[in-house]
Amino acid sequence: MRILLASSEVHPYSKTGGLADMIGALGKAFARAGHHVGVVTPLYRGVAARFPEIRRVDWRMDLPLATWHARAELWALEPLKGLTVYFIHKPKFFDRGSLYHEHGKDYHDNGERFIFFSKCVAHLARYLPWQPEVVHLNDWQTALVPALILHQARREGWGNRPRTCLTIHNLAYQGVFPRSAYAMTNLPGDYFHPEGAEYFGKLNCLKAGIVYADRVTTVSPRYAREITTEEFGCGLDGVLRKRKPPVQGILNGVDYEEWKTIGNPHLSYPFSAEDLSGKAASKAALQQELGLPVEPKIPLFGAITRLTEQKGIDIELAALEQMLPGNLQFVLLGSGDHGYERAFQKLAHRFPNKVAVRLGYDQGLSHRIEAGCDFYLMPSKFEPCGLNQMYSLRYGTVPIVRAVGGLDDTVVDAAEDPAAASGIKFVEYSANALAKAMHKAVVIYADAELLRHYQRNGMAADYSWDRTVGGYLEAFQSV
Ligand code: ADP
Ligand code: GLC
Repeated sequence: MRILLASSEVHPYSKTGGLADMIGALGKAFARAGHHVGVVTPLYRGVAARFPEIRRVDWRMDLPLATWHARAELWALEPLKGLTVYFIHKPKFFDRGSLYHEHGKDYHDNGERFIFFSKCVAHLARYLPWQPEVVHLNDWQTALVPALILHQARREGWGNRPRTCLTIHNLAYQGVFPRSAYAMTNLPGDYFHPEGAEYFGKLNCLKAGIVYADRVTTVSPRYAREITTEEFGCGLDGVLRKRKPPVQGILNGVDYEEWKTIGNPHLSYPFSAEDLSGKAASKAALQQELGLPVEPKIPLFGAITRLTEQKGIDIELAALEQMLPGNLQFVLLGSGDHGYERAFQKLAHRFPNKVAVRLGYDQGLSHRIEAGCDFYLMPSKFEPCGLNQMYSLRYGTVPIVRAVGGLDDTVVDAAEDPAAASGIKFVEYSANALAKAMHKAVVIYADAELLRHYQRNGMAADYSWDRTVGGYLEAFQSV
């Protein structure tokens, strides 16, 4: 199949979260399975310097944006046979300190930036010589593309237009802009109404994708069900319920070429399910690196996360308050909300021998935390899929998760199946429920054989990409 993937972030070029990991891995997996794949993404600051093989393509885009025209260059790279990554080079929009926001504030022109990006995607879908058959859009930043393609097909008689598939990675971000932003789409009014791109008088990019894409998917089966309810629907549950065929949940995969415990450049001590001595050495090294007492017998809990409401940070802080007088250590790597950042710093200050906090973004440290911890905390309020719990399983780090979205789909609790138990789940969104789950962890930790049982199950779980690729190909075939 000829597939064009579009995403505002792609690992290893740019990343703020799991979307980047997912698209980076999916592109490679499609190409390995023999498909013709293009991935299109913005050329952000520093990418060309980090990847000097990126070359300018002799192709200029000059696209209408409301009443003016905006130009961009196309750059490209072929990291793998069958896979080309296209970069949209438009310094005015993408040569910035960050992807979406700085100093806690969204860039004021995010609407313009990603409407323009979406137009570039639609342009490539139309004019790439290899003629993509499917255009796969991801999240609000590219969700206007289906409407742009539909309109172009209607207007120009683009007979065999590519089919479009939108994947929702997070319904909480919809790309909502004032009505005036709609002019930048250069679409006629026909698409701006309550059954289309309009949401209470505003432009809602994600809603436009949900309405106009040929197919809509999301990143876990449970989240696919959840988002059709008022509780998780973020105001779009009604629109999602109307989708035919219904929104399909396809569980994300893990790139085990990167997330591995043997031959991983970020890890000094390799280990496996059969021989966990390297994991013990990784724990000692991590404790030392973070300035915590090197204590092999104290359970070490970890978290690597965007510090946002979604991730259950408020109950995590409160549960730690309850648990920290006991015998445990905790490490956090994260960044985001300044209030949460300060709260964790205060905690580290009050419990210097028990809590280590690193604010910022650090890929290498994220691997070392996954490898060195005994337990991983993911008490999310909602979680479309979640990747860190799957990385934890592979690294023999027992995940403690709230039973929502992809967390529920990927972790097995002893109450569900004692023989297959790989982690600890709790249901109620409260600090008490999380603290109770952490208590269970401490009990498991005290029983070496039981801990090994959880680790063995987790490390054997296979969330590789082959299954995920099959799910997407089926969805693409169906349109
Ligand atoms: P989300 O996409 O909602 O943030 P996921 O669990 O799907 O959640 O993916 C998060 C990804 O971002 C993981 O690869 C995780 O390791 C990474 N990540 C999050 N915060 C940091 C950080 N501060 N430093 C390094 N990696 C991080
Ligand atoms: C979003 C979700 C996360 C998911 C990721 C990749 O960022 O919050 O749960 O794993 O996208 O699909």
